[in-house]
Amino acid sequence: GDVAVLVPAAGAGVRLGPGAPKALRPLAGEPLLVHAVRRIAAAPSVRVIVVAAPAADVGSVRELLAPVAPVTVVPGGAERQASVAAALAAVPPGPEIVLVHDAARALTPPTLVESVAAAVRSGHDAVIPVLPVVDTIKEVDAGERVLGTVDRSALRAVQTPQGFRRPVLAAAHASAGDPLTDDAGLVEKQGVPVFCVPGSEHALKITRPFDLALAEHLLATGA
Ligand code: C5P
Repeated sequence: GDVAVLVPAAGAGVRLGPGAPKALRPLAGEPLLVHAVRRIAAAPSVRVIVVAAPAADVGSVRELLAPVAPVTVVPGGAERQASVAAALAAVPPGPEIVLVHDAARALTPPTLVESVAAAVRSGHDAVIPVLPVVDTIKEVDAGERVLGTVDRSALRAVQTPQGFRRPVLAAAHASAGDPLTDDAGLVEKQGVPVFCVPGSEHALKITRPFDLALAEHLLATGA
């Protein structure tokens, strides 16, 4: 394998309701992070996995993941971007492709990990999995008044894993300014072209209680 996967898993998960940090919330009896790491480790290209855990949970996350796959666990940061940077700093020399994958996308199929890695290997500096947008999208003002309708055909919903040639991601994080919600956004600011590949509905981000219910159903039916 020539791929390192960074897993930011240090978020609180406020939108999921009160309880443990999001990555440690149970899905069918196991934490989201366990489901996510098991699927990443099943992708043949993956050599290294680095998880950024909540600082208070580093020890327990190490114990939790030891039976699942060989992983390095580091303390995350206050923002997702800081968590990714901390994980990137812990990647040993070797892997030349680095993927960043949210723990909250716990049911992401190993085939999506492989297809993103393959697109980077084939020559793209930065690769993101995307889906078409199904809803009509309106832009609104602060008073919820509609300003206009956006052309949906030109929009994509972006998932993870996002894949990068290692020096491209390192340079983007080294010069990062205000925190962004994804790593491709940092790379775009560097003027690097970002290439889209088809995403997967199973890579949904488990964010709200509804998503958890959907994920339980998907698991029960074979995901
Ligand atoms: O909050 P959001 O759903 O965008 O978080 C996406 C991912 O980033 C989650 O897997 C979450 O655990 C992670 N995260 C992190 N460190 C933070 C905030 C979020 O690793 N400080």
